[in-house]
Amino acid sequence: MKRTKIADLLIAKDFGKQVNVKGWVRTKRGSKNVAFIALNDGSVIHNIQIVVDFNEINENDILKINTGAAISVDGELIESKGSGQNVEIIAKKIEIFGEADPEKYPLQPKKHSLEFLREIAHLRFRTNTFGAITRVRHAMIFAVHKFFNDRGFYNIHTPIITGSDAEGAGEMFRVSVLDPINPPLTEDKKVDYSKDFFGKETNLTVSGQLEAELAALALSEVYTFGPTFRAENSNTSRHLAEFWMIEPEVAFADINDDMDLAEDMLKYLVKYALENCNDDLNFLSKRLQDEEKNKKQDERQMELIEKLNFVLEDKFERISYTEAINILKNSKPNKKKKFQYIIEEWGADLQSEHERFLVEKHFKKPVILTDYPKDIKAFYMKQNDDGKTVRAMDVLFPQIGEIIGGSQREEIYDKLIGRIRELNIPEKELWWYLETRKFGTVPHSGFGLGFERLMLFITGMGNIRDVIPFPRAPQNAEF
Ligand code: 4AD
Ligand code: MG
Repeated sequence: MKRTKIADLLIAKDFGKQVNVKGWVRTKRGSKNVAFIALNDGSVIHNIQIVVDFNEINENDILKINTGAAISVDGELIESKGSGQNVEIIAKKIEIFGEADPEKYPLQPKKHSLEFLREIAHLRFRTNTFGAITRVRHAMIFAVHKFFNDRGFYNIHTPIITGSDAEGAGEMFRVSVLDPINPPLTEDKKVDYSKDFFGKETNLTVSGQLEAELAALALSEVYTFGPTFRAENSNTSRHLAEFWMIEPEVAFADINDDMDLAEDMLKYLVKYALENCNDDLNFLSKRLQDEEKNKKQDERQMELIEKLNFVLEDKFERISYTEAINILKNSKPNKKKKFQYIIEEWGADLQSEHERFLVEKHFKKPVILTDYPKDIKAFYMKQNDDGKTVRAMDVLFPQIGEIIGGSQREEIYDKLIGRIRELNIPEKELWWYLETRKFGTVPHSGFGLGFERLMLFITGMGNIRDVIPFPRAPQNAEF
C-alpha cells in the first residue's frame, strides 16, 4: 500500500479507508487488551494515534516497538472518539523497520534541555521543538525566494571561496591546500601562496555583497542567499561562524529605498510565517511561555504570536546614529551604569544591549539607525558630505538587536579609492570592484539579513545554535 503522510491523514475525512502510514514512535502506552502508539513522520508537529487491538495483532509482535523505533502500519482510518485528535488508525498489520533500545536511545519521552539536545544534534530533529524549527526554517527560505521573485529580483550565486575581505574585518577562514607543516616560503620567509591551489591567498567568503554589486550594475535588482563564514571568536547566543545571509542589491536606489525594501521584506516574512506556520508557531509559543515562567516579570519576552504581530503594526522608527547616541547618553541604564558598555561619546560602536534598549524600552518598535560614523563601518559605504558619517542603515529588532546591516554604496570612484587607501585595504585585490565605478557607475544600495537572526525572532528561541541544524561556533564542528 502507498504511504500517506500524517499531515494528510490528520485532515482526511474518508473514514473506513485502508491506509498505510510510516514514521517514528514517540510513545507507546497500553492496557490489557490494547496498545496506543503515537507516531510522527515529521510532516506536521502532531502525531497520529495507532490503536493496536491484541485480538487483531499478536501482543508479542509489538513488544519490540519502543520510543524511537521506525515502523510501518497498515490499518483502517477511523474517526477518533478520544479527545485531542480527530482521526486514528486501527492497526491491521505492523512492520518494524528499525528498533530503538530503550536502555540506549537518548531521546526518551521527557523534557530534555536544549544544551543536551545540542550534543545529540543528529537525533534532535526528532523532537517537537526541532521538527517545528526545521519546518519554519524551510517556510522562511521559500518565502525569501518568493518575496524577491515576485518583485522581479534575480538570484545570484556568489562565490564561497574568495580572495577579498568584503567587510574588511579580517575575520576569515583560510582555504589552502599547502602542507601546514612544511609550506613553500618566499625569500623573506613568508608562506608563498603563489604556490597554493589558486595561486593566491584565498578564504571563505564573509559576504556575497561585492559580487552582488557587479550583477546589480547590469541586472538592476538581484539578491544572494548563501552561506557566509566569520572567524570572529564571539561565543554569544547571536553569533555563528557559519551562517546564511540574504543580500539584495539594487541599482538606482538610495538609502531610503533600501530602508523601504528592508522593512517590506521583514514584514512580508513575518506575515508569511503567521499565515503558513500556524501549528509550529503555536507549539513554539507554548514552549517559550513555559521557559519564560522561570524568569523575572520584567525580563520576560512578549508572547510569540503577539510579538510577531507587533512588528507588523507600526512603521519602523527611523533615526540617525547621532540621535540614538543622544537618547542612549541620557538614558537611565547609562546614567546608572547598568549597561555593560557605558556610552561616553559620539563615535562609540553600539552593543546589542544599546540596540535592544532603543527598540524594547525607548521606541517600543523596530528601529532603523542611519548615518553611522565612517570609522565603525565598512569601506564601501557612501560617504556623507559632513566627512564624518556614511550612509549606513542597521535594522534593530526586539530580542535580537541588529538583524540587518546595509547601506547606500559609494559609487564615485575617487571617493571610494580614497577610503580604500585610508584604510590600507589592498586595492590590487579589488581592481574588478573598482572598475564598476569607472564604467557606467550608478547610485545603488543593498543590505544583508542574517537568516539565523531572523529565525531567532520568528521562533522565539534564545540561542542561535538552536535555529540552524548543525551550528558552527568556536570549538564546535561536530556532526
Ligand atoms: O552587518 P554585516 O556584517 O553586513 C554585511 O555583511 C554586508 N555585506 C551586508 C550587505 O550590505 N550586503 O552582516 C549582515 C547581517 C547582520 O545584520 C546580522 O544579522 C548577520 O548578518 N550576521 C551574523 N549572523 C550570525 N552570526 C554572525 N557571526 C553574524 N554576523 C553578521
Ligand atoms: Mg553589521
